[in-house]
Amino acid sequence: MITQLIYMSQPFGYDSATLSGILATARRNNPQHGLTGALICRQDIYLQMLEGPAQAIDSLFERIAADPRHLEVKLLSRSEVASRMFPDWAMLHDPSHTWHWSPDDVSQGAIAKASVEELQSVFRRVAA
Ligand SMILES: Cc1cc2nc3c(=O)[nH]c(=O)nc-3n(C[C@H](O)[C@H](O)[C@H](O)COP(=O)(O)O)c2cc1C
Repeated sequence: MITQLIYMSQPFGYDSATLSGILATARRNNPQHGLTGALICRQDIYLQMLEGPAQAIDSLFERIAADPRHLEVKLLSRSEVASRMFPDWAMLHDPSHTWHWSPDDVSQGAIAKASVEELQSVFRRVAA
């Protein structure tokens, strides 16, 4: 089984250099730990799926949660799944242009209230 974790957070100091730095680190580190996933990002939100061995997931999430480049890191889901959604991606980056939650929805807490199935289906569309 694969551990799959989804969290949301609020970008702090969001710009293209920050984002490139995060993605470069993810793409350098994740393959060494059997980790894959996707980062949906917009000015007002990071929504990330991480998948891989449980121990690697938990230790990465601890590091991410302490990262000053975002705030209000909120764990939304941690579950065991049969297969990966992003087997070929150390970290896919999705700038969420096609995303169904508006900034207003996000600020009113739509993502925190979404079901795990709804969150997974957002990532499934990103993977498609
Ligand atoms: C939104 C966000 C997503 C991140 N995703 C990853 C990731 O997938 N993998 C990773 O190694 N670091 C990720 N980081 C960076 C970690 O917080 C941390 O800076 C990094 O793992 C430290 O690695 P280093 O010691 O190689 O610099 C992320 C940071 C943020 C803010």
